[in-house]
Amino acid sequence: MDFNELIDRSQTYAFKWEKYRDQDVLPMWVADTEFRCAPAILDALHNRVAHGVLGYTLPAQYEPGKQAIAHWLANRHQWHIALDWILWTPGVVPAFNVACKAFCEPGDKVLVQVPNYPPLLAAPGLNSLERVDIPTVEQHGRWMLDWDALETAAADPKAKLLILCNPMNPVGSVLSENELLRLADICERHDLILCSDEIHCDLILDDKAKHVPAGKLDALRERSLTLMAASKTFNIAGLGASFAVIENAVLRRRFSQAAMGIVPWVNVLGLVATEAAFTRCDEWYQAQLQYLRDNRDYLVDEINKVPGLSLLKPQATYLAWVDASGLGVENPQHWFENKGVGPSPGADFGDPQFVRINFGCPRRHLEEAIQRINA
Ligand SMILES: Cc1ncc(COP(=O)(O)O)c(C=O)c1O
Repeated sequence: MDFNELIDRSQTYAFKWEKYRDQDVLPMWVADTEFRCAPAILDALHNRVAHGVLGYTLPAQYEPGKQAIAHWLANRHQWHIALDWILWTPGVVPAFNVACKAFCEPGDKVLVQVPNYPPLLAAPGLNSLERVDIPTVEQHGRWMLDWDALETAAADPKAKLLILCNPMNPVGSVLSENELLRLADICERHDLILCSDEIHCDLILDDKAKHVPAGKLDALRERSLTLMAASKTFNIAGLGASFAVIENAVLRRRFSQAAMGIVPWVNVLGLVATEAAFTRCDEWYQAQLQYLRDNRDYLVDEINKVPGLSLLKPQATYLAWVDASGLGVENPQHWFENKGVGPSPGADFGDPQFVRINFGCPRRHLEEAIQRINA
């Protein structure tokens, strides 16, 4: 467990590193980390591979995996679920696309907060649905949904589904229980189904923030699906394993039917890694949280010293949504790349005057980025 270790990924075709191959640009975009997985995950994978037979494993029959999820949700989020509420999905992206297909008819409207993760912004259109954007506004030093805009959009009878990202990517806010109750009230009054993408929910950095899974709330349990994964927290996104928790049996059936024939089973290594992550990596997990907290605090301090840049402290995730409008340049992404730093372009998330910097990396990598920005 050494989060300071600089690991060379250049020979692994890592998506993050391929973009700037042979260029002197530090990649700080795609949301995975530069950290080696916890030893217990690597051991579990080694053991499974050593068995030598890698045929079909039906995820629903992999009891230790479901038990590991239930154990994690009970311990971390005080959410006590039944094992049959869990549906494995080979990624959260397919899951929210399946939700669009399962719960809407062509021509219906899907509410999505903006800025947001690009595949989430794309999902309604890919499913012949109309996306209605709900802006994110600054409230008391943190980004939050524009509640009036949400209320107005939800009142449209064509609005059927709200896809929430909580904790929010890219802005890093975590909905408080009261905010989630307010959202639940809007969903109830306007009969909306909530698809809650909570892939970042185990990366809460702010001591005062507490993640509340959507499906845990009485007001939402019958009308929501909660999408989660070990992938971000334990840096196993390349294994394509995630899950939906859906208490309502009717919604669960509709979701399964919409996925049928299109969405493949989660692969066996993803199941094994998720199980290990959720049962045998607590020490690694706590150490990583502290490392990310320190990285975040360093980055917030340093970015806010740079004339033209500003950054509100994210409560969660390893992603920083940097406002570069003060630079007065047309294309902030190019400004950063010319300095030798490669963030995600804010334009992809819905605001071209921002960039998103991934700080899930060794401190030296982050310090190098800051030096380059200041040069
Ligand atoms: C909010 C959000 N949802 C989903 C994903 C990707 O999910 P998956 O790789 O499980 O499809 C990401 C990855 O960055 C994300 O930030």
